[in-house]
Amino acid sequence: MDKFVIDGGIPLRGQVVISGSKNAALPILLAAILVDGEVRLSNVPHLRDIVTTLNLLALLGCRAEFHGDEVLLHSCDLKPEAPYDLVRTMRASVLCLGPLLARLGTARVSLPGGCAIGARPVDMHLRGLEQMGAVFELEDGDIVGNCDGLHGAHIHLDFPTVGGTEHLIMAATLAKGKTILENAAREPEIQDLAEFLNTCGAKISGHGTSVIQIEGVESLHGTSYKVMSDRIEAGTYLVAAGITKGDLELVDCPVDALEAVISKLRAMGMHIEGDGSNVRAYVDGPLHCVDLTTRPYPGFPTDMQAQIMALMSCSHGAGIITEGIFENRFMHVQELCRLGAHITLSGQSAMVRGVEGLKGATVMASDLRASACLVLAGLAASGRTEVRRIYHLDRGYEQMEVKLSQLGAKIYRERE
Ligand code: EPZ
Repeated sequence: MDKFVIDGGIPLRGQVVISGSKNAALPILLAAILVDGEVRLSNVPHLRDIVTTLNLLALLGCRAEFHGDEVLLHSCDLKPEAPYDLVRTMRASVLCLGPLLARLGTARVSLPGGCAIGARPVDMHLRGLEQMGAVFELEDGDIVGNCDGLHGAHIHLDFPTVGGTEHLIMAATLAKGKTILENAAREPEIQDLAEFLNTCGAKISGHGTSVIQIEGVESLHGTSYKVMSDRIEAGTYLVAAGITKGDLELVDCPVDALEAVISKLRAMGMHIEGDGSNVRAYVDGPLHCVDLTTRPYPGFPTDMQAQIMALMSCSHGAGIITEGIFENRFMHVQELCRLGAHITLSGQSAMVRGVEGLKGATVMASDLRASACLVLAGLAASGRTEVRRIYHLDRGYEQMEVKLSQLGAKIYRERE
């Protein structure tokens, strides 16, 4: 396993290019199962989760090639089974279930387990697919689904689940008749998936609002599509500018998808300026803690909760961070305290009291965004910080140590 060794206290300066979005690319890659023809995707990030998805697609009979940032896909002779070993490493794999049912009428996909941040059930996915005509049984930990063709349905989601909304949009594109999703999630990555599918001939409308309508079509044809930039990677680098009291220019930053994050960082005292997709982020005075609650889009994203907590831990005053999405997304708190942070937990809330400065130590990553939080804290801390189990980070950040080194950070990847 790899670790990062960081000598902190250096203000980051320079330009960083934001990569394609992991959370847009994953559902779009799996949606290629629906398409009868060649799919050419650009701006696909080189991440472990992307490679895992391409391996899954290959097992399902899709020909997949990854050249540079471009992926070529062709769902030639589809097979209906997604094995446990792949699904357990990446729960988003479960999204292949609906597309396989839509194309083949049968599918066997391992039921995804929980992960560090929560139980993460898929009950809303399955209930929606059942309303579209699927019948499911659980066999040896696998979800076995069958249907005599999917049909449109009027589905009301109990919660605006991102994966559930993506899953049901995909399945509905080839269902007979119209599907209406109420209380749908509004995340930008869902909008990107819908735009991709519409370039393949799907008839989706209302994406980005909480009511999405999908008119089923006979088939979907091949296309070329550019994946959106990663708003969470961008938000992470905005925090990197703030926590190191640096001055960064972000290129290809999806500003419109980051309004809640930019608003909170400005409220803390950061300067974030920019036109279109190039943004300058810098600090010219003390930063102050704020209160926030993570919520479904357009609220403050849960995937930025750990990162802004790192920033608040070395800002002035105190703030309360409430996690409104996942039941166990404070695994980074104890590790931040090892770096000298003053954070106390009470249920789904963390009280952060800013300290003058963090001090380097050895810490352990537990999940993707907790890893990013600890790297950010290490960049700000005096002395040396080691972040272990950095494989979590490799799931969602393309060449993070390379990008940070180019901005002046002293960060090295070492074999543990
Ligand atoms: C997506 O996960 C993202 N992953 C997550 O990003 C992100 O944190 C999350 O959305 C929320 O924004 C990808 O896009 C690959 P949900 P997803 O379904 O789809 C409960 C990262 O760091 N729920 O919106 O799994 C669930 O337990 C990752 O990039 C049910 O109860 O999120 C959770 O508490 C982490 N039943 C809440 O809803 C269901 O059927 C939100 O989950 C589905 C979800």
